[in-house]
Amino acid sequence: MTYANEGILVGILSKLFKKPKTDAVFETASPNGRLKIVFVIEHGEMSYYVRKDDKIIIKRSKLGLELRGERSFEHGMSVVRAFNRQFDETWEAYWGEEHYIRNNYSETVIYLEEVIKPARLLTLRFRAYDDGVAFRYEIPVQPQMSRLVITEELTEFAFNSNDRSWSIPAYQPDRYEYCYTEKPVFDLRDSVHTPMTVLTTDGFYVAVHEAALYNYGGMTLKMNKRALQADITPLSDGTKAHVSLPFSTPWRMMIVAENPLDLTTSRLMLNLNPAPREDFSWVKPIKFLGIWWAMFVGEWTWALGDRHGATTEHAKEYIDACVRLGISGLLIEGWNDGWEGDWLQNGVNNKFLDPTPDFDLDEVCNYAKEKGVEIVGHHETVGFVDNYEEQIENAYKYMRDHGVKYIKSGYAGSRMVINGQREYHHSQLGVMHYQYALELAAKYGIMLDVHEPIKSTGIERTWPNLMTREGARGQEYEGGGLTPSHTCFLPYTRLLAGGMDYTSGIFDVGNPTKRIATTVTRQIAYYVTIYSGMQMAADRPRFYEENFPDLFEFIRNLPTSWERTLPLVGEIGKSYVVARQAWNSQDWYVGGVTNEDGRRVMLNFDFLEEGSSYKAKLYRDSDDAHYRDNQLGHVVEEKVLRRGDKLEVYMAPGGGFALEIHKY
Ligand code: NOJ
Ligand code: CA
Repeated sequence: MTYANEGILVGILSKLFKKPKTDAVFETASPNGRLKIVFVIEHGEMSYYVRKDDKIIIKRSKLGLELRGERSFEHGMSVVRAFNRQFDETWEAYWGEEHYIRNNYSETVIYLEEVIKPARLLTLRFRAYDDGVAFRYEIPVQPQMSRLVITEELTEFAFNSNDRSWSIPAYQPDRYEYCYTEKPVFDLRDSVHTPMTVLTTDGFYVAVHEAALYNYGGMTLKMNKRALQADITPLSDGTKAHVSLPFSTPWRMMIVAENPLDLTTSRLMLNLNPAPREDFSWVKPIKFLGIWWAMFVGEWTWALGDRHGATTEHAKEYIDACVRLGISGLLIEGWNDGWEGDWLQNGVNNKFLDPTPDFDLDEVCNYAKEKGVEIVGHHETVGFVDNYEEQIENAYKYMRDHGVKYIKSGYAGSRMVINGQREYHHSQLGVMHYQYALELAAKYGIMLDVHEPIKSTGIERTWPNLMTREGARGQEYEGGGLTPSHTCFLPYTRLLAGGMDYTSGIFDVGNPTKRIATTVTRQIAYYVTIYSGMQMAADRPRFYEENFPDLFEFIRNLPTSWERTLPLVGEIGKSYVVARQAWNSQDWYVGGVTNEDGRRVMLNFDFLEEGSSYKAKLYRDSDDAHYRDNQLGHVVEEKVLRRGDKLEVYMAPGGGFALEIHKY
């Protein structure tokens, strides 16, 4: 870790400005000097803008906080002093898309005070990185206030009216599980979730998001008359956050890139989160099968009955399949009481310590242990947080006593029930619940895969037991609710916020109950294009062993963490091709997906080591494959590759390809 150039700017400022207190400008420039976030205080009002080289990316945008029963932090502010420092470190991740991550920025901290009494204090912290900028509000401890109720954040992001944006709507019943739409920024009438991606008229790609969301409502974005404004998810009482001082808001961050692929390699969000305070070397990414998709296609049920999926017998069969297939984990859903009837309505009764009579958790876990398979437990809360929090600690202990170290949790339902009130998942109380569950999981040595989560804001850097989340429209929406373009939007939008449990690997693509809008080859491409710290092979084992053992080979060999990630080709909503180097290895995996259009891509193997030869296996769509009427057509070819080689690969409409490259 290195600190340098910590210097006081105040002296310089007082020379530059006649009225340094209520009128001043502070520029924070990225290490390469090209990207700048500029804080402006004019007549006591705070704003900022962002520029890259000579182009304005974000125009003058307001800053401020509205408070209940108090004057807002909006007018009459003055700068007391400011500091600037440079920071540069490279940190090692426990797992992820990148083993070593450089965190290099310039930071300006601006201490403000109100001009009139009671002269309350506010701090603004700005950071400029080469790949983006960020800032946050910090309210220090002060004599006049110890607690605050924030009723609105006045932060704006002023784009140009013609800038194009890609987003999903906020405050909808299915939370984050929507398809992306493209709109001019000024047409965003209703609130949208972050990350929201924008293409500016000058050709810059900007992703607006937040980092380190704790103890505060999640930020959505909404057009006011002039600009997009932070619209913090409210609590049921209409306020945004109840906080005690000192308090810091999450970081408001903007990745700024010159092409869409460079958005995807930014580690800004993770860098804005602090390093873990404890040792997490017990955490391990995993691949897992599941007593799961059989429920979606109607073969089995979650609830007890003739077709109950989570029986002791089925669990043992699936454990045996894990061994044969070389997959180390097994998810078991529907193992507990509470799924009878309309489970979405009855979740208030869910019991996390009561297996169904046909499921013997001791027997299943002993069998799994004998076979060397990890069980992934399941807690579907249906958003009844009050009910879950009554049981959660005992439920975690119960799982740990059975040797279960992984839990998939679920929060289906449009609102949560917290303290007897209906609250948004992204409300401050929702955010606090997910955090409580995560910290408790860490205490019990449990790794989480959270479905219906709040968005990721990079807290997995601090809490690496948060292995993955859903938090987007996933494969469960197939059967009519997805088009091939969806997974071509995700890399440039939702996945900028980290891993996703998309539940890839459905080989039964033509199932009449739940037909998948992809070719079968594309299902393995997803393991490279959609990163997840826990990767599910989501189909039933017979589809891997009997139907497509050739394609399954790729899933078996797939590493669960990456040394390096190198996007190769892509356009928002159209295609995405990425190469990833396996963790601590010279092997590479490449995956590509296309939208409804067939596409040829030229791969250039510049990333391979000079002088070495590689044995490669290409899994591609056949020339006549199509996601509508020839989903199964595929070809598996072996190749020898060297640095500098080129290879043209065809992706069928709704198709994709996967390539594994092993050093000889
Ligand atoms: C929705 C989750 O996304 C899915 O994976 C799970 O099977 C169901 N809820 C039931 O918990
Ligand atoms: Ca879901």
